[in-house]
Amino acid sequence: MNQDFDLYQTSEEHEMLRASIRSLAEAKIAPFAAEVDEQSRFPAEALKALVAADLHAVHVPQEYGGSGADALATVIVIEEVARVCASSSLIPAVNKLGSLPVILSGSEELKKRYLAPLAEGNALFSYCLSEPDAGSDAVGMTTRAVREGDSYVLNGVKRWITNAGVSEYYTVMAVTDPGKRSKGISAFVVEKSDEGVSFGAPEKKLGIKGSPTREVYLDQVRIPADRMIGADGTGFATAMKTLDHTRVTIAAQALGIAQGALDHAKGYVQERKQFGKPIGDFQGVQFMLADMAMKLEATRQLTYAAAAKSERVDSDLTFYGAAAKCFASDAAMQITTDAVQLLGGYGFTRDYPVERMMRDAKITQIYEGTNQIQRIVMARTLP
Ligand code: CAA
Repeated sequence: MNQDFDLYQTSEEHEMLRASIRSLAEAKIAPFAAEVDEQSRFPAEALKALVAADLHAVHVPQEYGGSGADALATVIVIEEVARVCASSSLIPAVNKLGSLPVILSGSEELKKRYLAPLAEGNALFSYCLSEPDAGSDAVGMTTRAVREGDSYVLNGVKRWITNAGVSEYYTVMAVTDPGKRSKGISAFVVEKSDEGVSFGAPEKKLGIKGSPTREVYLDQVRIPADRMIGADGTGFATAMKTLDHTRVTIAAQALGIAQGALDHAKGYVQERKQFGKPIGDFQGVQFMLADMAMKLEATRQLTYAAAAKSERVDSDLTFYGAAAKCFASDAAMQITTDAVQLLGGYGFTRDYPVERMMRDAKITQIYEGTNQIQRIVMARTLP
């Protein structure tokens, strides 16, 4: 067996982590999942439980007060939470997305100031790249940051911001030099309490209804110049490097949603009797379950391989992150749709969780770059 294969084998520690997050998720997050969806409300119970167990931001390095968990451990946390509640899985996932620019490119001072409150559970972190007219074409953003003495003044609108309004901290990409396209974009930390920051109404969405998605308005927001993450003009590269890592976390979310749907479908076909026997005894149903399980296992392997790449400097993570996210989200859409089919009319009702899982799976094909963008990213990396 070669070393690369060994890299994504889960260790005993990883499996112990899985057992502990699974029991936490089933006891403290699953009971609220349907209500959180139905009422489109933030899963405060999940946040409380994750913070109490120190599982809300496991990726934060130990020197800044975190547990310094590796990318695979982070994937396992997100996967297990998503298995019962996709909205809640965005707490650890978006904490990584929002804070990774600081971890990858921020000054020591910024790391100390912003990572400790995140690790302690006193603040969540969001990521502001997209705008109303700059989604897939992220370089086309128009939010401006203008230097004035020791400050920058930010103006613009960021859109589709996950956990907006709940998070204390926001990584904001903004144009500092309009003539330079991607090289004229810089990254900043903006705080919710900064004067001039406000939020739009929560979007009315198909799925992940418990995770608020809102616009972030920046109106003459004056921040100290030392809140710039990395050097002037490096914000776009930092944003893209971040997504290389965090697309793996979206793959993990998709994987967890799909596992949850398969688990429910498997249980249901053993109970549900038609034509005098459990429907699971029919070969047509067995074929469907086998296909779902096969796609799920391929998803898990690719996602864990991508997590291993996330740990290595100079790896082909750009390809793997995009491939894992694209493959996992397509698989999750297929598996959750098949789960609804297996439950028949019951699957189409809110009395069973599979319709929620199918609605939640859809966004994984869209956010952190649509799957069409992932294919562009992958194609560009081919030798
Ligand atoms: N790592 C480091 N640098 C990178 C990079 C990477 N992975 N990808 C690009 N760059 C650099 C390039 O090297 C280039 O620099 P040079 O000119 O020096 O070579 C610069 O960035 C510009 O890159 P491109 O020329 O490739 O830019 P492009 O305009 O052709 O498009 C894109 C790039 C891949 C399409 C990119 O715009 C993209 O990923 N778009 C999708 C955006 C996205 O994923 N948005 C999700 C928002 S987050 C979210 O959804 C979460 C939420 O809260 C809802």
